[in-house]
Amino acid sequence: MKVKRGIILAGGTATRLKPITSIISKHLLPIYNKPMIYYPLSTLMLGGIREYLIITNPSHLKLYQDLLGYGDNLGINIRYKVQKKPEGLPQAFIIGEKFINNEPVCLNLGDHIFFGDVNRLLKKNINDFKKTTIFTYRYKKPNEYGVINLNKKNKPISILEKPIKPKSNLIVCGLYIYDKNVVELSKNLKFSKRGELEISDLNNLYLKNNTLNVEIIDKKNHWIDAGSPEKIFEASKLIESIEKRKKAYIGFPEIAALKKRYITINNFTKLIRNYKGNYYGRILNAFLSKNFIN
Ligand code: DAU
Repeated sequence: MKVKRGIILAGGTATRLKPITSIISKHLLPIYNKPMIYYPLSTLMLGGIREYLIITNPSHLKLYQDLLGYGDNLGINIRYKVQKKPEGLPQAFIIGEKFINNEPVCLNLGDHIFFGDVNRLLKKNINDFKKTTIFTYRYKKPNEYGVINLNKKNKPISILEKPIKPKSNLIVCGLYIYDKNVVELSKNLKFSKRGELEISDLNNLYLKNNTLNVEIIDKKNHWIDAGSPEKIFEASKLIESIEKRKKAYIGFPEIAALKKRYITINNFTKLIRNYKGNYYGRILNAFLSKNFIN
């Protein structure tokens, strides 16, 4: 079965990034040459998702609508919902119940950036969805995340949320695909001590029922949680270096739309006109000349 819909969660308070996040949403801050949300959007677009729900704070909603509209110029459909208070990641599925429509759904946290071969892994799981899938990565500071506890045979047995003494370095990244039961399961979760519905509790339910597929993103790929000033800077430097050195194009929704044929070359050329003579427009133009015009 193919997964058709994706949620990008772009709410939260982003206290680590204050004062700037007192007036702007974290997921609109620039990562190198484009707003942060362009990265998860492009990741899901390249994965094959065309229907989106962006969830954000009431005070930031209009900014996203102004930036991305309904997505028709990218050949996709974008809807919006607000999360009044950041009460946990699984709330996305409760807020998005109507959008999910009793089908599987993908979730990308708005500040989790992926690139490299991970697109292939995601595409495979989107095109041929069998069971709930989490994407994991070996990370040096696992205790800041949900950590997979493995048995002697390397089989996942539980997920611990931010453990003080992690039992492995395999962490759960902000990219997930859930089956249609996710809404009901999320509704039945209890709030944790930190006052949130925990995605680790949700994932543990799937794990216990033997319905969780754990994909490991290998080290040749990049995963960055751009949730702090240092990580925003690190992500920007890395993407700058890869875009310049390898002449790669990372996180451009317009390019994802053209690559996936969601839009025609003609539509793409029209999009470039919005950036006439500026830096972003020159990059889109360079991509077009290099790949589609001989
Ligand atoms: O998937 C990455 C990690 O996400 C997992 O490894 C953890 O198990 C999971 O609990 C979560 O970690 P954090 O609790 O540290 O996530 P954080 O609060 O940083 O939120 C992640 C993003 O989601 C951030 O961009 C803000 C947004 N968010 C968060 C919450 C709690 C919302 O939009 N709404 C929310 O209610």
